[in-house]
Amino acid sequence: MPDLREKVTIITGASSGIGKATAVEFAGLGAHLALTGRNQENLQATAKACVEAGTPQDKILLVTGDICDEQVRKNLVGQTVQKFGRIDVLVNNAGRGKRATIEAIEMADYDRIMDVNVRSVVTLTQLCIQHLTKTKGAVVNVSSVNGTRAFPGLLAYNMSKSALDQFTRCVALELASKQIRVNSVNPGVIETGIQKRSGMSEEDYVKFLEHSKTTHALGRVGDVSEVAKTIAFLASSDASFITGAQVPEKKKKKKKKKKKKKKKKKKKKKKKKKKKKKKKKKKKKKKKKKKKKKKKKKKKKKKKKKKKKKKKKKKKKKKKNERKQ
Ligand SMILES: NC(=O)c1ccc[n+]([C@@H]2O[C@H](COP(=O)([O-])OP(=O)(O)OC[C@H]3O[C@@H](n4cnc5c(N)ncnc54)[C@H](OP(=O)(O)O)[C@@H]3O)[C@@H](O)[C@H]2O)c1
Repeated sequence: MPDLREKVTIITGASSGIGKATAVEFAGLGAHLALTGRNQENLQATAKACVEAGTPQDKILLVTGDICDEQVRKNLVGQTVQKFGRIDVLVNNAGRGKRATIEAIEMADYDRIMDVNVRSVVTLTQLCIQHLTKTKGAVVNVSSVNGTRAFPGLLAYNMSKSALDQFTRCVALELASKQIRVNSVNPGVIETGIQKRSGMSEEDYVKFLEHSKTTHALGRVGDVSEVAKTIAFLASSDASFITGAQVPEKKKKKKKKKKKKKKKKKKKKKKKKKKKKKKKKKKKKKKKKKKKKKKKKKKKKKKKKKKKKKKKKKKKKKKKNERKQ
């Protein structure tokens, strides 16, 4: 079980869904909490659930407001440091979507999604860096499967989550020397209110959940507590050597392709080596044959010379004999 005792944690979007479940999970692990969202009533309900899970009331700070508002972000960081004296963990969870294709999306919606899902994350993280540096803290960004794959009809949301993933990877590298870890969770479908808030009707939502059973390896959608547990792990010292990671990671296809390419290259190299060896063998054989031929020729020549010499000698002897007579 991760140890988050007295870890001062900011959680955005803590008023519902994954953010609320994360607050309760962290409370159960002993964290001190700075919770934010727009809906005050819901935020108070989260605080109550956190007290029930184990965090004392006086170790919970609630900051209500729109995360796109610079003053709200400043208040959140300022009040957290004032109350607790430090920041150990930042969970960038607040997010929104809108069902719209490239042909239908209105730029006001596009801007709003980018503002909540990306811009506010960048600026809030910026405000926290000096405090996270002191504690060698951790950032966990709540991205989505939509950041790693393309889905039709959710253009701005998909784009925003891809940007968030790149943010995670880049900032992990940039803050590594300060020992600040930055990771993300990229859940598939989790049962919260977000789909209906993004414009899905009740009837379509029921169908969507049923269809999701076939698109998820485990044959079901996820529960908020399952995401919360992963966030707690990444925020804790159990993940002390993990930074720049996405959970789960989508890289298998690339790896397979790379492996295939490597295998092909190896095969080609082997073939080339074999060809070279064959060529060398052929050349050697040819050389040997040539040498043999040359030797044979030389032998023949020698024999001929010997024969000629013998003949000459014979002739000379004959002539000598003739003269004697
Ligand atoms: N549910 C899924 O299937 C799923 C899958 C992958 C990733 N995610 C991601 O998980 C995160 C949480 O979503 P969820 O499913 O838990 O949805 P949710 O129940 O709708 O929660 C969204 C949270 O974000 C807050 N929020 C939205 N806009 C805000 C703003 N302008 N200022 C301040 N707070 C704002 C909401 O606060 P208020 O209600 O108080 O405004 C709420 O607490 C999101 O980033 C989402 O993209 C969800």
